Amino acid sequence: MLPVVIDKRMTCIAKCVRQDAILADIGTDHGKLPIYLAQTGKISKAVAADINEMPLQKAKNNVKKYGLDGQIDTYLTDGLKGIERFSPTDVVIAGMGGELIEQILQEQTINKTGVKYILQPMTKEESVRMFLCENGYTVTDEYIVEEGKIYQIICAEYTGEFTAMTPAEYLLGRINIEKNERLLEKLADKVISRQKVKIAGRQKAGLSVEEDVRCLDELLVIKENCYGKR
Ligand SMILES: C[S@@+](CC[C@H](N)C(=O)[O-])C[C@H]1O[C@@H](n2cnc3c(N)ncnc32)[C@H](O)[C@@H]1O
Repeated sequence: MLPVVIDKRMTCIAKCVRQDAILADIGTDHGKLPIYLAQTGKISKAVAADINEMPLQKAKNNVKKYGLDGQIDTYLTDGLKGIERFSPTDVVIAGMGGELIEQILQEQTINKTGVKYILQPMTKEESVRMFLCENGYTVTDEYIVEEGKIYQIICAEYTGEFTAMTPAEYLLGRINIEKNERLLEKLADKVISRQKVKIAGRQKAGLSVEEDVRCLDELLVIKENCYGKR
């Protein structure tokens, strides 16, 4: 059987999963991530979870097709509910809106300490980062991937420490900025354009723009300081 093919975004997510992890893939859809990780010997076992029956059935069929029933469980659930019984060490929540990811983490019932969360919001990355900072999670690593559009991947752990970032860091990622992540400048360009549209819209509506302008200035400085990688 040929190995399952995954795209660039998912490859980056897969790289974030730790060797010999017990993976929980929340919102697994086709189940390709746990299948790929099992095939490449990265994980010891996995649970592929989804709230909807149709995608879970897809995952179930794929797991069976690749002969991985012994290594990958499938589980119908909302977010992290009931996931603790699988004792995951690494939790992936990818390809969903930022607000849904926050909601899933807010409602979670699994023991949080030592678990690595690998999050890939499709929207509102800044809101996810703020949620993490305000709820005792520490962002431990970040990546930017381009595949048609630009995706951000945020790794975090629950530490019980409450932190804060600047508005531009929430948008771009403090670690992305610190390590001058490849594609940071491209991401900054995109975020700067969005910020300019936001400011114009607020000005038109007669709303205050002071904070947004401060954030724009910060974004422009970060962009200026990007060096040599695009
Ligand atoms: C766009 S797919 C993303 C699939 C895959 N994770 C990826 O990154 O390519 C989103 C999946 O999340 C599932 N989903 C949505 N809300 C969920 C929830 N609260 N708990 C678990 N799964 C959920 C959907 O059924 C769908 O299969």
